[in-house]
Formats: sequence, structure tokens, C-alpha cells
Amino acid sequence: IPVEPFDYVVFGGNGDLAERKLLPALYHRDHDGQIPDASRIIGASRSEISDEDYRAFARRAIEKHVDAADMHQSSIDRFLSRLHYRKVDARAEEGWDELRALLDEAGEDCVRAFYLAVGPSLFADFARKIGERGLSSANMRLVVEKPVGRDLKSACELNRIIADHFTEEQVFRIDHYLGKETVQNLMVLRFANALYEPIWNSAHIDHVQITVAESVGLEGRAGYYDKSGALRDMVQNHIVQLMCLVALEPPAALDADALRDEKLKVLRALRPIDALNVESRTVRGQYKAGASDGSAVKSYLDDLGNGESTTETFVAIKAEINNWRWAGVPFYLRTGKRLSERMSEIVVTFRPIPHSIFAGAAGNIVQNQLVMRLQPNEGVKQWLMIKDPGPGGMRLRHVPLDMSFAESFRVRNPDAYERLLMDVIRGNQTLFMRRDEVEAAWNWIDPILEAWEEKGMKPQGYTAGTWGPSSGVALIERDGRTWHEPD
Ligand code: BG6
Repeated sequence: IPVEPFDYVVFGGNGDLAERKLLPALYHRDHDGQIPDASRIIGASRSEISDEDYRAFARRAIEKHVDAADMHQSSIDRFLSRLHYRKVDARAEEGWDELRALLDEAGEDCVRAFYLAVGPSLFADFARKIGERGLSSANMRLVVEKPVGRDLKSACELNRIIADHFTEEQVFRIDHYLGKETVQNLMVLRFANALYEPIWNSAHIDHVQITVAESVGLEGRAGYYDKSGALRDMVQNHIVQLMCLVALEPPAALDADALRDEKLKVLRALRPIDALNVESRTVRGQYKAGASDGSAVKSYLDDLGNGESTTETFVAIKAEINNWRWAGVPFYLRTGKRLSERMSEIVVTFRPIPHSIFAGAAGNIVQNQLVMRLQPNEGVKQWLMIKDPGPGGMRLRHVPLDMSFAESFRVRNPDAYERLLMDVIRGNQTLFMRRDEVEAAWNWIDPILEAWEEKGMKPQGYTAGTWGPSSGVALIERDGRTWHEPD
């Protein structure tokens, strides 16, 4: 879908996120002909950089993060010609008039997007400056990266400052997991097929697992991560959002508020985890030295250079949603750094059949599972029982109906940011988090953090390159279930 001409201002324009994700994503959209000619991308930060140097930075970012097959000199040159740079400081006055003058060169109708690709401590300062220095326009949007706060109180405070200057329709809180192909597909699978929705409830579903496993460690983000930990970094946003999309009631339409209203209801129905049940419902872990992708790796504490930290790099949770649809259906959630492999998936396990007629047959009847693989190898597998082919008698086999996106469509799988950056320009908030959603998610997370503190629950060690501490396995196995083994 074509978009209107726009100016994208990226605060933190020479930072890590801009280099790894935003500039490559915008390049891809441009290469695919989606960026109208009058559009500009304006990097901004405290560094003194010329337009030319910024273009050189962007060229290096593209060369490093875009596949060679998608790099074409003419596309790169066209993309670089759209780039500009202005020096601004969120906490000083200089540079803001120059930035406004540059933006004012575009007509009133030009869409103006401000992307806060900066540390969270600066979000409020930038929001204020944009508002106070007259940079807003009729057609403006503010994109806020995570984390939105580090607890309910700070999230409310930030949301309040943002609301002082912008309407909720102008604010796009990014959770890049919502831009992933499989995540969007989850909604299509549920609501564009007649098959699943009638059985998508506690009468037919035994339990749900959501795993977001990473093999990487701190990736140079020790300062941020150690203050955050896996619960804040991954569960409060990405995993909770995935859980909402699995659990929500069908919205009346795929419009932003209809979808977000339904997500909010799920968040509000989450059974609280607090000091009374935190020990049986959550597991915290921290990686020790081990091996990752075939090489020896250090422990979290050595990566950090601080022998004291009790920040968790792994968390597993048994969550429950207290409503009619999901009563009694556990949602087992887990995420961690330095796990065995990079693998994210949602697994829906259906209830056992009520009665087997195959008493004498070889092979066990396994519960049906729907596996939605987010990464790598995006795809969907519906596991079913079939008869092993051949005349040798009745032998039952568990096999998948397998839909690998790469094999079925043979197209490049776009990065989540490509979709989301363009949705901002289109003004489509469907895949962005609303203020009340973020706050409701913190409202569930805060008591877990407090209960860990109150109960003195320190993270348990796990060897880097494994699936986390043994208590993470015990969390699900004591309910007579097992984590789905990735294939
Ligand atoms: C980010 C987290 O939001 O998501 C990182 O802050 C994490 O710690 C990253 O590594 C994972 O994203 P992806 O798209 O690589 O799965």
C-alpha cells in the first residue's frame, strides 16, 4: 500500500538500533519502491556529524545488515540521497531551531514521524522538546521504543508526560514482536479459518507454551540489561503481547482499538502472581560459563564484570487467565539469554482424545499440537496422528502438516521493523501498544518483581548453551507436561 511523503526524524540516529534495524529496514522499503520521492530521513543526536558523514554511516549500516542479494548501487544511492542529519541535544536548546527549519521546508501535509531510538531516560526529555519547540504538526507521530518505564509507576509517569504534548492517536509504542510475520499470521490463522476458533478454548486446549529463546548474551548492552533483567526486557512486552494474541476474544474488526480493547481484557484477567504463589509459578535463572554456538562463553557475572548481580537472564512462568475461555488452561512462558539455540515459538496443545479404539495398535496416541514458529524458519505445523503407510498392520504415527513460509512462498521474510516503520507513516496503530495496555502489563509484572524481592528469590545458575535451570523444566513437568522439543 503506497504511503504519503514523509519526514522520519530518528533521534539516536547514529546509535545501535538505527544502525542494525531502522536504516536497513527503511532501505528495504525504499528498494521495494515504497518510499515516495519527496520523503526524507533525518538522523539526529548529540554528535557533530555532517550530512555526508551520516550518509557514510548509513552506507556502512546497509552493507553490514542487508543481504548482498538486496543491495543495488542505484537503490543505495537513492536511499542515501534522502538522508540528512541535525545535531540536537534533548537537554539543551541548541540545534532545535535548525531542525524545525529543516522540517518546515516540507509542506503542511507531509507526514512527520519522530522516532525515539534513544535510551529510556531521555524519552520524556525528547517528548517535551518536540512539543515545546513547536516541532509537532497536524500530521505528526511519535514512536516510542521499549522499555516504556521500568515499573507501573514510571510507565504511568512517562505516559503522562507524553500525553501532555501529544494525543494517544499520535503515539506509537513499538513492540517489534508484533511486526513479526508469524505473529500477524496468528491472527489470520485464528480469524480467517473456520477450523480453529470453535475449539480455541479450555474445553479443547490443554495448555499453551510460549518460548522466546536466545543464544546471544549481553551484546554490549550490559548497562541496560543488568538494570532490567529478562522479566522486564522480554516478558512485560514481547511475551505478554504474544500471550494476548493467543488468548484474546475475536475483535469485531481488525482496527487498532478493537484489537487493543481485546488485548486489554486479557491483561486484566491475568491471575496475579505475588508472594503467596511466586515460588510455585516462577523460575529465575542466570547463566554460568558454558558454550554457545560451538564456542566457550563466559558467565553472566564475568560478562558484566560484577560478581554481585542478581539480575535474571532466564525466566519461566506458569500464567493463568481468569476468564470463561481459559479457566484452568496454563500458559507456560519462558525466555532467556545464552540458551541452547535461538528459537521462538508458540505451541498450543489440544486435550487428549476421550477414548482410544486402537488398543492393539503399535505407537502411542500423542495429543495434537499446533506449533507456530516465529524464528528461525518461520512457519506453522499442525501435528496430527496418522496411520503409518503400508500393509504391516495398524501402526500410529505423529506427523506434522508443515507450512514453512520460506518453502511455500520463496520470498524474503521482511524484518518486523519494515512493517512497523511504514505503519507509523500510514497512521495505523493496530500493531502498537496503547497506553492502558502497557500499564496493565506492568500491573501484572510489578507484583512478581516485588514477590521475588520479598521472598529473596535469587536466580538459579544454568550452564550457558542449555535450556535454562532444571527448575524451569520442573515447573512444567510437575503438571505432567513437557516443554515442546524444537525440531
Ligand atoms: C529486545 C530485547 O526487545 O528484543 C533484547 O531488548 C532481545 O534483549 C531482542 O535480544 C530480541 O529480538 P529478536 O527480534 O532478535 O528476537
